[in-house]
Amino acid sequence: MASGQRDGAARTYSQTFSSAQMQVFGDIQPCRAAIEEAKRQGKLVGLVPTMGALHAGHLSLIRAARRQCDRVAATIFVNPTQFGPNEDFQAYPRPMDADLEACRREQVDWVFTPSVECMYPADSKTSVHVRDLTSGLCGPFRPGHFDGVATVVAKLFNILPADAAFFGEKDYQQLQVIKRMAADLNFPIEIVACPTVREPDGLAMSSRNAYLSPKQREQAANLSRALFTAAEAVRRGETNVAKLQSMMRDLIQSAGPNQIDYIEIVHPQSLARLTRVEGPARICLAVRIGACRLIDNVPVEPTRLTG
Ligand code: PAF
Repeated sequence: MASGQRDGAARTYSQTFSSAQMQVFGDIQPCRAAIEEAKRQGKLVGLVPTMGALHAGHLSLIRAARRQCDRVAATIFVNPTQFGPNEDFQAYPRPMDADLEACRREQVDWVFTPSVECMYPADSKTSVHVRDLTSGLCGPFRPGHFDGVATVVAKLFNILPADAAFFGEKDYQQLQVIKRMAADLNFPIEIVACPTVREPDGLAMSSRNAYLSPKQREQAANLSRALFTAAEAVRRGETNVAKLQSMMRDLIQSAGPNQIDYIEIVHPQSLARLTRVEGPARICLAVRIGACRLIDNVPVEPTRLTG
């Protein structure tokens, strides 16, 4: 087994190494060849793209891929193009050894851990932009973020020609952007949405939760409380989005000096802003607690009265 090489902030494994169950690739060709060979043998391949710092949410994606596919490929790549200039690309956690161990425990077959240079050679000039779905919610707060996501995911779909790819609903806007991109660009891959995994107090699992101090961690639990309270209000008949937003804002602000980027109720596919909840919808929010920007969302559906 080869040891990892440090490459500035981005620690990458540039050599191929393998254990009985798992192969780790830093280069494109051998990784693609392993997947193509499995597909020639009639195996169904599942792909779990990640930026590493794996937590229970990622493990649930790997387990879903294991249940639905014969072979599982995971990627670990902290993608620089989806971070803005003032965001946490350098600080983003990169516990590569622990991540590989977690993948091995979950019986992942292949892990792709490319370097930045491998994914973005100096002469690359192409990026993928998904219109409309990226203009609201996190879009205005993170200019260029979804272009970075769509571009890297399109590249990963080409490099690792899997049958299905697994993404968490926690990043709900990202999920809709990837679904649209895969359909528009005719990728022959099924996009599988997996439910958000939460801590016992409701906080959605995220690699960025590690940035929270104990006090901020307590405040963060209020985000899901606000979402669940609003979802319950919708079930009980409240359809007015302005009232629901104000209820959630009060709950979140009562927990501490948090900066709310947005609280929106949107159509579940088009992500268009709603003013009344008259059918299935998604409540989405983004809140900054200290230096940490947290996002979360829940589905809502009004109770239909009969008779
Ligand atoms: O959700 C993530 O971890 C990333 O945005 C993804 C999809 C792996 C692309 O870098």
